[in-house]
Amino acid sequence: MTDASQVTDLASLKAWFASYCGSFRSEDAEVQRNFDLKEVHTRNVCEAARLIAQEGGERRQMLAQVAALCHDLGRFPQFQEYRTFLDSQSVNHAHLSAQVLKQSSLLDFLPKAERDAVYFAVRLHNVFQVPRGLPAGTEDLLLLVRDADKLDIWRVFADYFFAPESERASAAGLGFPDLPTCSPDVLAAVAAGQMVQLTMLKSQHDFKLLQLSWVYDINFLSTLRLIKERRVLEQLAATLPRDEAVLVILDRVQGYLESRLADAAAGALC
Ligand SMILES: [Fe+2]
Repeated sequence: MTDASQVTDLASLKAWFASYCGSFRSEDAEVQRNFDLKEVHTRNVCEAARLIAQEGGERRQMLAQVAALCHDLGRFPQFQEYRTFLDSQSVNHAHLSAQVLKQSSLLDFLPKAERDAVYFAVRLHNVFQVPRGLPAGTEDLLLLVRDADKLDIWRVFADYFFAPESERASAAGLGFPDLPTCSPDVLAAVAAGQMVQLTMLKSQHDFKLLQLSWVYDINFLSTLRLIKERRVLEQLAATLPRDEAVLVILDRVQGYLESRLADAAAGALC
């Protein structure tokens, strides 16, 4: 594996990441598919972070990509040891990613304040609610990575749900049973404009509803535009049952997205 001390900028961090992924290579095709999933996911999150950060200048764009590249480093040792991506059945993968950073010199090319901002953005990227009182630079980076992460997770699951069973990365569905129903409390949460908690899920449909509720947790206008452009809601809708309760909440989330975009457009005209 490329030595972390050779990392001096974003380009060399990307090269290091490729060798890091290579160090987990497995003979077992099924295991390798799960590692590949996280490698591709990380590269896509990196690109999404670059797109979202576009308006903030070059330095912000670079830091957003550094944080995105590092955010899921822990997924590799997590899957290697536990064969799952469910944190509740293994370890907190964001803490594990932060630990990889702590134990290496990967971020040494950054000044201390930026290094800390990346470290905390990585460590906190999967929290249910972003804590208050973070330094501005850390908060900005954390919100960026969370948006970029969601954008690509939507892509991962669209691929997963539309792929034939034999080609699916086994751990991507997180092991929820493929039941024909949605849980009433999960439906109620999304209908009320609330984020769904992981502990409420009982089925794959619930998991899709949780992903729908992420739209309420989007921080940047550029992300909302990408959600619309990439037809994220339409893709999720196509995987859900067409019953009345589901149609109502699809409408609710779509309305929320449209109104935030319309508010921003109206603001831009003032
Ligand atoms: Fe993650």
